[in-house]
Amino acid sequence: MYDFRPDPALGTPALYRELVAAAEALTAGEPDPVANMANCAALLWEFLPDLNWAGFYRIAPRRDGTGAELVLGPFIGRPACIRIALGSGVCGTAAARGTTQLVADVHAFPGHIACDAASRSELVVPVRRAGQVVAVIDLDSPRLARFTPEDAAGIEALAEAIAARI
Ligand code: SME
Repeated sequence: MYDFRPDPALGTPALYRELVAAAEALTAGEPDPVANMANCAALLWEFLPDLNWAGFYRIAPRRDGTGAELVLGPFIGRPACIRIALGSGVCGTAAARGTTQLVADVHAFPGHIACDAASRSELVVPVRRAGQVVAVIDLDSPRLARFTPEDAAGIEALAEAIAARI
């Protein structure tokens, strides 16, 4: 049994240090990317309060073979949009630009894709391998402005730590 529950008294940077350490421990020596993304989604869900969705979209070939798009990966939350064009919504913007998207109010984000009507704020962080975006980590919250720059820095650290394992 794994028990990675965080101490509720931890401040945000310490919480993310523990989250990253737990993710490194859980994925160490495991070559299966689906297993590793699934456990990381579970850790995000366990460590971070006020989420209604936590998981991955991967860059994958489009169904017609012309180029790439984001395809749903392991997650926790309500069933979600399966394919997102690069440049579309918050996830597609993060993937296309290669930059973290910290969205305080999803209704104010042009082109936001509403997979769960309860979502009010969102944080999307690209995962890079050898300089290329290979996936994004997506967090949704039912609370307006749930995510801070400290959350963005923490998820960026997670993305770097697991990039070679997903
Ligand atoms: N809101 C995202 C879509 C993915 S779901 O939130 C799980 C977006 O605008 O890209």
